[in-house]
Amino acid sequence: MEKHYASENEVLYHVGFSKAELKGATIAVLPGDPGRVEPLARQLGAKPSFIACHREYTSWLTYIAGVPTLVCSTGMGGPSVAICLEELARMGISQVIRVGTTGTIQQHINPGEVIINKASVRLDGTSHHYAPASFPAVASFTVTGALIEAAKACAAPYHVGIAVSSDTFWPGQERYDSFTGYVPLAFQGTMAEWQRLGALNYEMETSALFVTCQALGIKAGAVCGVVAKRTEGEAIVPKKLYDQALQYQIAIVRGAVERLSKA
Ligand code: URA
Repeated sequence: MEKHYASENEVLYHVGFSKAELKGATIAVLPGDPGRVEPLARQLGAKPSFIACHREYTSWLTYIAGVPTLVCSTGMGGPSVAICLEELARMGISQVIRVGTTGTIQQHINPGEVIINKASVRLDGTSHHYAPASFPAVASFTVTGALIEAAKACAAPYHVGIAVSSDTFWPGQERYDSFTGYVPLAFQGTMAEWQRLGALNYEMETSALFVTCQALGIKAGAVCGVVAKRTEGEAIVPKKLYDQALQYQIAIVRGAVERLSKA
């Protein structure tokens, strides 16, 4: 595969920094929310430092067990994920871990727990620009294995399974608590179908992440904190449970980066 790497000091247009600022990092941790980048960089590792803030992309560098690691927000949804990945790939990032939030659709999973997604239903548009609809959205076996080992080691309440990755928070996730309350016919009844097929959760980025990474030659994994329980309602749970999931995610990502950097 032909690859167009950036030169050391070329500032990439969207993320707003150059490879020189990565200090040799080849692993990136990718939350969606720019506001989560600094706290994540501080809690994940040592010597956290600000790199850049441009559009939805806020970037910090941190050192996890001495390994330089980029923490960069992707924004919400597939398009901004793919733009970020294209530019990180050009700067030599070869392994990524998404740290996101999600709504479980299975009764046995609870808010505050975490889900490691091994694959995704492609209810997005972006992944279809990188591969035909018949191509699977799958996580890297290596990155997923590292996430699972790390989750076991820190005794996190984790689940491994398939996400339903939707471009929309309301209709694609069959939510009726929207402005109009209407869900198009094409999506009515779909949550029951995904449940019957054993999918675990709704979120908005992993299908674009997995397919784009496959197309670019990057290894990707994802660990999502459960902030909604769709078998009981449509609302997002109180922040306390979100914070609980985030603490597990931090411990898991730290352990996974340590494992991946030694592999
Ligand atoms: N993120 C989503 O996309 N859906 C949820 O229900 C919660 C977080």
